[in-house]
Amino acid sequence: AAKKIKLRDASPKLDGVRVEVNAWLHHVRNQKKIVFLELRDGTGFLQCVMGGNLVHPSIVEQLKREATVKIIGTLSIPPAGKTCPGGVELNADYWELLGSSSADLEGIINTESNVDQQLDQRHILLRGTRASSIMKIRSIALQAFREHFYHNGYFEMNPPTLVNTFCEGGSELFTLDYFGTPAYLTQSSQLYLETMCPVVGDVFCIAQSYRSEKARTRRHLSEFTHLEAEMPFITFEDLTDRIEFLICDVVERMLKIDGDLVRSIKEDVAVPKRPFMRMDYKEAIEYCVKNGIKKVNEDGTESDFQFGDDIPEAQERKMNDQIGCPIFLRRFPHAMKAFYMKRCPEDKELTESLDLLMPGVGEIVGGSMRISDYDELLNAYKREELDAEQYYWFTDQRKYGSGQTGGYGLGVERFLTWILGLPHIRDVCSYPRFTGRCHP
Ligand code: 4AD
Ligand code: MG
Repeated sequence: AAKKIKLRDASPKLDGVRVEVNAWLHHVRNQKKIVFLELRDGTGFLQCVMGGNLVHPSIVEQLKREATVKIIGTLSIPPAGKTCPGGVELNADYWELLGSSSADLEGIINTESNVDQQLDQRHILLRGTRASSIMKIRSIALQAFREHFYHNGYFEMNPPTLVNTFCEGGSELFTLDYFGTPAYLTQSSQLYLETMCPVVGDVFCIAQSYRSEKARTRRHLSEFTHLEAEMPFITFEDLTDRIEFLICDVVERMLKIDGDLVRSIKEDVAVPKRPFMRMDYKEAIEYCVKNGIKKVNEDGTESDFQFGDDIPEAQERKMNDQIGCPIFLRRFPHAMKAFYMKRCPEDKELTESLDLLMPGVGEIVGGSMRISDYDELLNAYKREELDAEQYYWFTDQRKYGSGQTGGYGLGVERFLTWILGLPHIRDVCSYPRFTGRCHP
């Protein structure tokens, strides 16, 4: 009897062994008397040779691209000079069709298709070699993030994504009708995560976050995978160090899990050098002024940035690319930041906040220390015109014991776009969501 195997298990160790495989036809080359197939089953690829009665004209037509087949045959090491994935090829002696395919595939999606046509056929496109590698790397990254946290004593939680409070300001909220009252799709799990610190200590979650971002950019999604962590009894320096450790450790773990796969998308992936540059917001303003990175005014004219200006994405990226290495941008003025952020003890105009910028992508992490004082928090609600009553459960974190908590959020898609050096964030999503696209 033939041994049933997954394609990833086909290797020279099985030379001469008769096996059964079930797979999709990734590529078909029909030379009439002999047919060469490239098989794909998600786990890997295998080349297959069929001849004789197996490719009789009456049946060979069924061997269309993406058809599914069961094939039995003998694995053998190919003749010298011929390379194939896994180091063996399959010489078929039996096959049957499990699911037919249709010849219209080439017309639906091909190299000529424009971006929107490609996105419409995302479910087909994902089957391609490159896209499927990226999806596997995405899974490996999530594995590496989880390993990092478990290894360092964090617990994983699953906060709700249907919420009635907001975290990052009200402008980008998706609102929905929740049994007759308004609710939102969460922008961040941060506030709920913090309530778990007294429960389990250091805590993290990997959850979907939603932002109704109107702009179509190469790094904004309306739904993204948000990796967030919250830690009690730490300092601002601890927070910065922990994020740096996270990034480096996760890249290292990914390369250990499957470095070849990661490098198949970007050859020179490497663990970034520590320590990362630390730059205060104030220094970034000075950098821009000194290096000719200008603010663009509403009337189109240019001028120097001044303290208090938000450095927009384009200029921030320009600075980041000029410097050419990861940058922790820290201590932003409180006026441009979220209500919950702690003020700097040395300058109350500033917050203990940070963004981690990566060359090519820009911000991949945002984080801060949190206001720990009860009255200060109440004032922050007032200033931001938030309904304090809705936040009673968060306020209670300052009423029943309070310590210095800090945390951060990392956009998993931004991280992947950075590490794989990709031009566009949608390439690392299975089904990207952005303005105007909610299908497939
Ligand atoms: O900087 P943000 O808005 O910070 C927060 O949401 C905090 N509550 C996180 C925390 O402290 N727990 O978002 C965090 C990260 C960003 O740095 C970015 O990587 C990603 O989430 N992100 C997006 N990714 C893709 N598309 C979008 N529209 C994103 N918005 C934020
Ligand atoms: Mg941010």
